Amino acid sequence: MDKIEIIGGVKLSGEVTISGAKNAVLPLMTAAILSSGENIIRNVPNLRDVMTMGKLLAHLGFGFHLEDNQILLQTKKITSIEAPYDFVKTMRASVLVLGPLLARTGRAKVSLPGGCAIGARPINLHIMGLEKMGAKITLSEGYIEASAKRLKGATIYFDIPTVTGTENLMMAAALADGTTILENAAREPEVVDLANALISMGADIQGAGTSSIKINGVNKLRPLDYTVIPDRIETATFIAAAAITRGDVKIKGGRPEHLEAVINKIKEAGVRVVQKNDKLIVKGPERLSSIDIKTMPHPGFPTDMQAQFMALMAIADGTSLITESIFENRFMHVAELKRMGADIKVEGSTATVKGVESLTGAPVMATDLRASASLVVAGLAAHGTTVIDRVYHLDRGYEKIEEKLRMLGAKIRRVK
Ligand code: EPU
Repeated sequence: MDKIEIIGGVKLSGEVTISGAKNAVLPLMTAAILSSGENIIRNVPNLRDVMTMGKLLAHLGFGFHLEDNQILLQTKKITSIEAPYDFVKTMRASVLVLGPLLARTGRAKVSLPGGCAIGARPINLHIMGLEKMGAKITLSEGYIEASAKRLKGATIYFDIPTVTGTENLMMAAALADGTTILENAAREPEVVDLANALISMGADIQGAGTSSIKINGVNKLRPLDYTVIPDRIETATFIAAAAITRGDVKIKGGRPEHLEAVINKIKEAGVRVVQKNDKLIVKGPERLSSIDIKTMPHPGFPTDMQAQFMALMAIADGTSLITESIFENRFMHVAELKRMGADIKVEGSTATVKGVESLTGAPVMATDLRASASLVVAGLAAHGTTVIDRVYHLDRGYEKIEEKLRMLGAKIRRVK
C-alpha cells in the first residue's frame, strides 16, 4: 500500500492550479443516465471515486472513457438497473444512480450503503422523497428496490438539508410528470452545478442555490456537454497548506464565491487572502491566531474543511473550539494529530484545540479523505518526517496532490 512521506518546515511558494470538483462530477456522471446518447463532461479530476463511478456506469451497460480530464459517456442502452454492494461499499455516492435510474427506466435496485468512518449517514430522506413522488420502495436483503411507471411531481420537505439527497431528487424530478418542489434543499455549489447541467440538457429548474428548488418535469433530456466547476475543498485545502507553512501561494482557478465562510475564517486567523484576476493570493502569518469554527450546511463552514482547519489550530496562538454539527464521528484525525504533538480534547461534538508551538513528524494513519488531507497539512508544518499510511483515502479526492505540493516546494513523496 502506498504511503506519503513529508519532511515538514518548508514555506510553500509558487502557483497551483485547482482541478474539477469531485463532488460536482459524481452527480453529473449520474445525470447522464437521464439522457440517451453521447455525453461529454470536461474538467474532470482523475480520481479514484471518478473511476469507481465510471465502473458502476459501465456495469449498468454504458460506455465510459476518461482521458485528458474529459469523460465520454455513451448512455444509449441500459443493460442493468442494479448498483451492487461492491460499488456502494467503496463509494457512498453510488447511491446517486437511484433517482436517475428510476426516472429513466421505472426501476432501480441499489445496495443500501452501510455506516461510514465519519457517521451513520442514512439515506432515509432520499427514499422519503422518491416515495412522495409515487415510487414503490422495498428494502430486502440489503438492497433498496424502487419502481414507478412514471414519477409524479410532489412537494418534498427535507428535515435536514442533504446534498446527495437534493441531487438525487432533483434528477428524478427532472423527468417526472408535473412539478416538484424541494424545500429545505441543500444550497451547496455542487447542487447548483448539477442544476445548471440539467438545465443545459433541457430540464426546467428554478431556485438552485436557495433552499427552495422548483422542478417542472419534462419528457426528455438531451445528452450532456458540460464543464465541471473547480473543487472548492481542494482550493481551501491549498489555502490551509499555504497558511500553515507561512507560505506565499497563488491559487489559480478556485472560485472564492464558493468559499466565503472559509476565506472569512482564515482571514480571522491572520492569513492574507487577496483575489487578483483568476488567482487567489494567500500569505500565511508568522503565527496563526486561534479561531472558533462550527461546521454548517452551505453557506456555513464546510464539514469537509473541519479536519484541515484543526491542523492549523493545532499550532495557532490560543485555544480554539471546533464544533462538528454535520457528521457524528468526524474527529478521527484527532488521535493522529495528537501523535504529532497536538493538544486536543474532544467532548461530544466539540474539540478544544490548545495551540502548541510546533508539531513533530510521526507515522500516522489516514482514516478518511479529509482526515488524510489534515495530516498532510499538519505534516507540511511539522518538524521532521511524517509518514501517512492508507493514502488511498487521499487518492479518492485530491488529484496529484503530492505533485502539486512538490511544485510549491514541499518535500513530499509517495513511497510505494
Ligand atoms: N442525512 C440523513 N438522512 C439522509 C441524508 C442525510 O439523516 O437521507 C444526514 C447525514 O447523516 C448528515 C447530514 O444529513 O448528518 C448531511 O449529509 P448529506 O446527505 O448532505 O451528505 P452526503 O450528501 O452524503 C455530501 C458530500 C460529502 C460532504 C457532505 C456534507 C458528495 C458525494 N459527498 O455527502 O463529501 O461531507 O455532503 O457537505 O457530495 C467528502 O468529499 O469528503 C465528503 C464526505
